[in-house]
Amino acid sequence: MPIRIAVPKETVAGERRVAMVPDVAEKFTKAGVQIIMQRNAGDSSYFPDSDYDDIALVADAAEVYAQADVVLKVQPPTIDEIKLLPEGCIVISFMQPHREPDRIKALRDRNITALAMELVPRISRAQSMDALSSQASIAGYKGALMAADHAAQFFPMLTTAAGTIRPAKVLIIGAGVSGLQAIATVRRLGAMVEAYDVRKVTKEQVQSLGAKFLELNVDAASDGGYARELTEAEKHHERDMLANHVSAATAVITTAAIPGRVSPRLISTAMVERMRPGAVIIDLASEGGGNCELTKAGETVNHNGVIIHGPLNVPSMLPVHASEMYSRNLYNLLQIMIADGELKPDWEDEVLAGSTLTRAGKIMHEPTRKVVEGEQP
Ligand code: NAI
Repeated sequence: MPIRIAVPKETVAGERRVAMVPDVAEKFTKAGVQIIMQRNAGDSSYFPDSDYDDIALVADAAEVYAQADVVLKVQPPTIDEIKLLPEGCIVISFMQPHREPDRIKALRDRNITALAMELVPRISRAQSMDALSSQASIAGYKGALMAADHAAQFFPMLTTAAGTIRPAKVLIIGAGVSGLQAIATVRRLGAMVEAYDVRKVTKEQVQSLGAKFLELNVDAASDGGYARELTEAEKHHERDMLANHVSAATAVITTAAIPGRVSPRLISTAMVERMRPGAVIIDLASEGGGNCELTKAGETVNHNGVIIHGPLNVPSMLPVHASEMYSRNLYNLLQIMIADGELKPDWEDEVLAGSTLTRAGKIMHEPTRKVVEGEQP
């Protein structure tokens, strides 16, 4: 019996990505895997059904789920979708483990093996499976374009018959995967770039992209290459340091995040009020609460002429490449679960153990288990 991988159409509003692009479907089918896709699942990312060869197309979501050994998705399965999953099957998607405990309970109680793409360990062996990075890089690129689009002036220096235009000053806060991609993109547009991160290790990366690194006498590098939360005194110090740079910027792109926590508030209303009218803030952290006090998730706010844009699900705005990169991440993750044409996951494997959210009726990710089952993490 071949492995059956099911790919439903995404149901969350505004989600345009698909978990399987035609190239990846072809690799699976060549390896003897049977792909069952819901009709039109790839439409919103411009992969029509006719681009997929040798797969089973099914109209009804329930029928797609019913046949699955493995379900591949982008967004976490909803409670209604979890009810459709065959008991004991494997589902792999973003899971947002820190949100909606009822969903995690439903996965646990239906004995579903849920792998969360957010939990894939960030070790060299798993780089090709790292969907947080692939999608963050898209967000950084698109965030830079949004900044240029909303700005009231050119980004590059221009020498014209009507005089010389000075280049824009862009400040990027948070120099992780999306921040670095934003720096590279803004640099290509010709603006001057300053960047800041609480992890000192980013200084060299920022400088190698031709941007100036803003120094703060704090190093908040923590486990797994992530940042820790700053102390109150450090936060104060950070906001003081940033205030002058924010007020001088044509555009600020914020990407600062701490996994599983609300985004740090780095730009206060007072700081926005010192910016020039026509300046813009693109808050790429808006999903996690925003880095700017005035950010409204999913909205564009005009505060005394300063535009504060809080886009949601930015990777989905570039659905072709976001889907391609995401489905390759899934393919690479599945490769370590398949041997001799059969599903043979080794749950002790570091990557699989780290990514498993629920399995065998248990919540395997300890921080999530503590939150969902009522203990303090
Ligand atoms: P993220 O999305 O969690 O955070 C974005 C950035 O915000 C981070 O660079 C963080 O240091 C920064 N930040 C947090 N609080 C801040 C504050 N108060 N002020 C300023 N900046 C603040 O992080 P992301 O981009 O997902 O990854 C962070 C790092 O993880 C990478 O740069 C890298 O070092 C590591 N990583 C390792 C990988 C591997 O080895 N396979 C793959 C990808 C990332």
